[in-house]
Formats: sequence, C-alpha cells, structure tokens
Amino acid sequence: MSFQTLPTLVQLALQSLLRVEALAISAVQDLPWVLFPPVFKEAFNHRQTNILRAMVAVWPFPCLPVGSLMKNPHLETLQAVLDGVDLLLTQVWPRSCKLKVVDFRAVNHNFWHVWGGAEDHACSPQVIRKQQKLEDLPKSEERQPLKIIVDICLKFCRLDECHTHLLQWAKPRKKSLQFCCPKLQMKVLPVCTIIEILKVFEPDTIQELELNSRWRLEALAHFAPYLGQMRNLQKFLMAGVYVDHCLRKTFTEMEYVHKFLSQFSKLNCLQHLYMNQVYSFSGHMDHLVRCLKNPLETLSITLSLVSQSDLNLLPQCQSLWQLKHLNLSGIPLFFFHFKPIQILLESITATLQTLEFEGCELNDSHITALLPGLSQCSQLTKINFYGNGISMLVLEDLVHRTAKLRQLTHELYPAPLECYDNGSLILDRFIQLCSSLMTTLRAIRQPEKVSFGAGFCSGCNERCVYSLEIKLCSCWQSD
Ligand SMILES: *[C@@H]1O[C@H](CO)[C@@H](O)[C@H](O)[C@H]1NC(C)=O
Ligand SMILES: *[C@@H]1O[C@H](CO)[C@@H](O)[C@H](O)[C@H]1NC(C)=O
Ligand SMILES: *[C@@H]1O[C@H](CO)[C@@H](O)[C@H](O)[C@H]1NC(C)=O
Repeated sequence: MSFQTLPTLVQLALQSLLRVEALAISAVQDLPWVLFPPVFKEAFNHRQTNILRAMVAVWPFPCLPVGSLMKNPHLETLQAVLDGVDLLLTQVWPRSCKLKVVDFRAVNHNFWHVWGGAEDHACSPQVIRKQQKLEDLPKSEERQPLKIIVDICLKFCRLDECHTHLLQWAKPRKKSLQFCCPKLQMKVLPVCTIIEILKVFEPDTIQELELNSRWRLEALAHFAPYLGQMRNLQKFLMAGVYVDHCLRKTFTEMEYVHKFLSQFSKLNCLQHLYMNQVYSFSGHMDHLVRCLKNPLETLSITLSLVSQSDLNLLPQCQSLWQLKHLNLSGIPLFFFHFKPIQILLESITATLQTLEFEGCELNDSHITALLPGLSQCSQLTKINFYGNGISMLVLEDLVHRTAKLRQLTHELYPAPLECYDNGSLILDRFIQLCSSLMTTLRAIRQPEKVSFGAGFCSGCNERCVYSLEIKLCSCWQSD
C-alpha cells in the first residue's frame, strides 16, 4: 500500500494521534515502520518537536532526508532533530538503529512522496525493504559512523542562527559522527569563519565551493591548505579577489598567489572553474595552468584582469582541450593579440557547447578569425556575442557560417555597427537591420532563441533587444 492510497480514515487517525503528544510519543515505539514518514511529516509541519525528537531516535530507515521538509530554517525543529540524533547515539549498540544518513540538504526528496515506486537510491522502498532484511543478519564489518549531510549556503557576511547552532552542536561530536558538506557557498565571510566550518565538515566531502569573499591575498594564502584538502571538489567558483595595493607586484604578493594556485594540483576531480572579478592572478596563469590536472568542462574567466602571457598559455593547456563551456565575457580582448584564443577555439571544436564573449570589445577582424573554428563546433548549443562592435557584413557571414550547427538553439548577437550614428542608436535602422538578419537566419535554419542586442543605453543602462518581439530600453520607451 502506498501513501497516496492511504485511506483518509488513517490520515485522520494520525492527526488525532498527534494531537495528544504524550500518547504519540509512547506510540512511536510500536509504530509500524511504514507509518513513520507520514507521521514525521505531519509532526514536522506542526513543529511538534517532542514527537520529532522521539521519532528520529528510532527512525526505521537508513536515510532521513529532513532537509526537503525544511522550507524555511527553523531553529526549534532543527534542534529537535539534532536532539533525536543525540538520543540515538546514547542508545546501546547494537540496538535496532537503522539510520545511516541524516540529510539536511534542501533537495527535493522522493522519499516523502513517491512511496509506491520511488527511484531514489538510498531511500527507495526497494532498498529499504532489502536493508530491513539484511539488518537482521549479524554484521562483521565495523559500523560506519552516522553521516550528517548539510549544504552551507550563506548569503550574508556571518553565519545565520541555524548554521551557528549546527556548527556548535557538531564540534564536540566530530569524532562520533561524519559531517559532509557537498556544497559550500559564501559571500563576504572572514577566512577564520570558513576555517571553523572546515574543522568540522571534512574538506574532502566538498564537491562545490563558491568563494565570493573579497578576501585579501593574505587570507587567500591562509585558506590555501584547506583548498588543497578538497580532493573531491568538482566545481570551484571564486569572485572578487582584489590586489592589495600595498602588496602590488611585491615578492609577498607572488608568494601568496603561488601558494594558493599550487593547491590546484591536488584537485583531481575539478571539472568546472569560474573566476569572476579576480584581479590578482594576472600574469600568474602559467602557475595555474601547470597545476590543473583534470580535463575541465567549464572555464569561465570573466570581468577579470588577464595579461597577454596568460592568454598565450590557454591553448597549450591540455586540461582545456575538452572544454564544453567557455566564458570570457567582460575581458577586453581588443587590447590583446588574438591568435591564442583562435587556436584554443580550434582545439575544442569537438566538445564545445557554449561560447560566451559578451562585452569583449571584439571587432570584425576577431570574428573573422574565429569563424573557421566556430563553424566546426558541431555540439554548440549557445553563443553569446553581445556587446561587441561588429558590422552587418560580418554578422551575415557569422550567421551563414553557423548554418550547419544543428544543435545551436540559443544565439545572442550584437546589433550591427550600422545601427549607430556617432555612438547613439538609430531605432528604425536597428529594427530594419536586425529584421533583415533574422530573415537571413530563418532562411538557413530554424532558430529557437535568437536576440540582437544593442549596446547598453547610457541613460538607463538597459539594452534594446530585437528578438521575437522588440524590447526597447526604458529611455526609448518613455520617448
Ligand atoms: C558568463 O559570464 C558573465 C559575466 O560574469 C555572466 O554574466 C554570465 O552569466 C556567464 N555565463 C554563464 C553561462 O554562466
Ligand atoms: C580589430 O582590432 C584589432 C586590435 O585588437 C586591430 O588590429 C584590427 O585592425 C581591428 N579590425 C578592424 C576591422 O577594425
Ligand atoms: C558625436 O558626439 C560627440 C559627443 O557625443 C559630439 O561632441 C560630436 O560633435 C558628435 N559628432 C557628430 C558628427 O555628430
């Protein structure tokens, strides 16, 4: 019988059971395991902490995906679950303890919904039934510690109430439980706080790290050894690393940067690397490139400071030869010798899926240089050339040369240069030229999502966009 088909009568019985707390708590011991999920969910939604605590302690499944019930963090229910874990830990082993994982991640878990035939691995009824049988057999292998899984995503510059509480609870239990943090994201947070977190959550359980922290280089160097321990890191996003002016171009700066970048040689699982507004690594990319071990799927260096020598290294780096996503938006490529980018593109034509050069100050010569490579990228699904100065002639060529790219579904082109007069957009020319380009495009393939965007308006900082319909910037709308 699945929960969807539970008779309403039973549901009503559950609700009235939960109304008498003392009765419910004593009933928990004898509750059939199949009733645990609906009772727990009901008690959770009504924040009946005493019942929750009692149920966690005798939870009859290997997994308790409690995070998917926590729509909003709520300290008392969190506390109740943690108390339940404590209660469970004090029980004399080997009792009927089946719980192996308490999952606080806010992922949508089938566990609570699809009971008839869930495909969710750790918590699926099939696996659970199997484990229920296995559980009765004596175990020779050593007992694994109970796993606590938490994603830590901090929006503000300090830990919130729930995270602080969880961390305080976790510290003294570090030896008896295993703390995992698949995703660690933070905004402006002092380096000492993240080190506190990493003393509890094992760095090698982190798969995704987002540092948005505006640290000074010294803090970055201090953090470096912890980064090196994140051996299972797959996705690393860093933003806002500035140069300290007093350190600029000194030996110390170089030392700090090298200490940080050399950690990349230990990140054997890294697939996605994002650097946004990173100003400190310019001229040091050789160090990074030498340390990259794993083939990357994503390289995104945007709005950052790079040097010619950095760009020259890119096509030589073998870790980049299987790139699926390349984003160099906001790097003023106009000032550089462009050949390395052209060679890089030509070496990744077999794998590349998305290519973004938004606001790179590219001109006709650059696009013409990219075209032979670009027309070979048969996996390409998205291109973004917004915010570059390209003429009608070259845009038409670009559209023709991408004619054979069947997967291409999302295309962002700049409005042709001819739409402007002395820097300002001439609206009817914009509409006329973009409509002509759209017609050309429709004649050669069936585009799905195509936009031609004008430059940002100096008045309202928005673009006029020609797509299925015309979206004018605020200034044009009010004209
Ligand atoms: C590429 O980088 C720009 C600038 O940082 C960003 O706005 C854009 O979302 C990025 N594209 C993707 C697909 O992440
Ligand atoms: C494009 O810019 C490069 C410098 O990056 C310059 O050498 C070239 O002449 C320009 N091409 C056109 C068509 O303006
Ligand atoms: C172009 O614009 C600049 C200021 O935006 C102005 O000083 C100049 O006179 C304009 N030139 C022409 C030919 O309109």
